Amino acid sequence: MTLDAVSRSDGRIDVLLTPADLRAEMAVDVRAGLTAIPKHLPPKYFYDDRGSRLFEQITELPEYYQTRTERRILIDHADEIAAAADAEALLELGSGSSSKTRTLLEALDRRRPLTAYLPVDVSVGALSEAMDALGREYPGLPLHGFVADFDRHLDRLPSPGRRLIAFLGGTIGNHPPPRRRHFFAALSATMAPGESLLLGVDLVKDPARLVAAYDDAAGVTAAFNRNVIDVVSREFDGDLDPADFEHVAVWDPDREWIEMRLRARRPVAARLADLDLTVSFAAGEEMRTEISAKFRRPSLERELVAAGLAPRGWWTDADGDFALVLATA
Ligand code: AVJ
Repeated sequence: MTLDAVSRSDGRIDVLLTPADLRAEMAVDVRAGLTAIPKHLPPKYFYDDRGSRLFEQITELPEYYQTRTERRILIDHADEIAAAADAEALLELGSGSSSKTRTLLEALDRRRPLTAYLPVDVSVGALSEAMDALGREYPGLPLHGFVADFDRHLDRLPSPGRRLIAFLGGTIGNHPPPRRRHFFAALSATMAPGESLLLGVDLVKDPARLVAAYDDAAGVTAAFNRNVIDVVSREFDGDLDPADFEHVAVWDPDREWIEMRLRARRPVAARLADLDLTVSFAAGEEMRTEISAKFRRPSLERELVAAGLAPRGWWTDADGDFALVLATA
């Protein structure tokens, strides 16, 4: 198996981001984040195998309404979305298990046979599993996957016909506003006129419900958050212990985002041997591990317009908890 392309019976996977690239990037991020004041880590490192499984469990929690609400909106409006996008190919950023994709794929394909489904993910494991399943379910559908970082490789993703680019799940909320603007602009620059973006966003609502969604009674989100300590420690031969940290989820009313943090339960002194780095936390010291921004229609539409994307559709559930927005280049 070569590192840059994996040929499979049911499509191919191009590897634009190798495990070595990922580890090098992680080394830079971890060193910067753990030596900063205050400390922080990027949320993308939550998703090792255990973290991905914990996230799948989160999506089934009673408090975490996002996933089931987005799926509902897709089921109820897939045909309208497909009509508005009028796409020949579906490209999905952060495709993961591609579980919500089927609704969209089928709606698009009913209008015109798709030239390709192009899933993009950082995890080769998630990508091959998703492609195996899709290859079995849709034998005639050409599949071409990409292991890529969609903050870096957007211009290397192909356009085999007018694309609908799906970025679902509210993941855009992980980007702080300046990076979000950069992402929209970079994406827009790679889109041909007539191609569209379908973006899933969580909406501003009662803070108590938002906090509960990130601090569930069963403690799954707490385990998910603490798992990043294991990821970092394992990757860089460290002795950090997740049990030394407590899960914190707070709503920032000014910036309208949920912030997840890990708070040291006691003074912590640890080594990350591979980075030749000593890390210490004072008792009670907090490290930010994720922001999850919540959106309002007017300001989000202004951001899209500023990036050269014209809003063409907005679909929500009956309670207005979550939205899908379609914007065309
Ligand atoms: C996958 C980024 C959309 O922000 O809600 C779930 C991740 N973090 N619970 C989100 C997450 C804590 C999730 N996204």
